[in-house]
Amino acid sequence: RWTAIDEYTTSHLHPPSRPNHAAITHAIKNSAAKGLADIAAPSNIGKFLALQCQMLNAKHAIEFGTLGGCTAIWLTTMNPNLKITTLEYEASTAEVARENIANAGVSDRVDLILGPAVDALPRLEQEIQSGQREKLDFAFIDSDKMNNWTYFDWAVGMSRPGACIVVDNVVSKGNLADAKAAETNHMVKGAQMCVENVGKDDRVEAMVMQIVGEKDYDGFLMAVVK
Ligand code: DHB
Ligand code: MG
Repeated sequence: RWTAIDEYTTSHLHPPSRPNHAAITHAIKNSAAKGLADIAAPSNIGKFLALQCQMLNAKHAIEFGTLGGCTAIWLTTMNPNLKITTLEYEASTAEVARENIANAGVSDRVDLILGPAVDALPRLEQEIQSGQREKLDFAFIDSDKMNNWTYFDWAVGMSRPGACIVVDNVVSKGNLADAKAAETNHMVKGAQMCVENVGKDDRVEAMVMQIVGEKDYDGFLMAVVK
């Protein structure tokens, strides 16, 4: 039922006549053909994030975990004034993302940085603090889950008041509240550390939204920077 409703709603609300439909479809197919894991944000989430950027009038975004570039394509194709810096650890993954982003015609607004995020972050923050780079309006954290909180903390420090930060997958297939699961499952542990630290962070207001759909049961944390 969850998948059927995703298919039904997407067919009505994001049909093939939409300008970015072919680019998204190509990115999904090319990513699968090149062996990337089938863990990209599905279309309803990609579009939700793109609509959030429209509401924020976002011009500067960051993404932790490019994967095949689907989210970067959603955000840039639906926000003509948005530039995104997207961080990817794996060279072979980044190569596929570059193909997909070029196919979508948005390479000029996507700055893909290859390597560990923690290596790139000090320079990005320094550029923001010195005024060479604009503060962030939007951040999407969808990468190595044990670093959710680390990336969140950096993202807040680089954001303007009113910026939005989304952390994917914190519901962890329904295991978020399971203390036992956190002992062995890094996704759950990383999600719990993030939720618990965000709850103590006076710089933001946050909530978690649970979601069901074609990619099973999961959900994200959303925070707004004060
Ligand atoms: C996984 C990671 C993701 O970012 C996601 O959206 C779904 C699953 C995973 O590592 O299993
Ligand atoms: Mg994810």
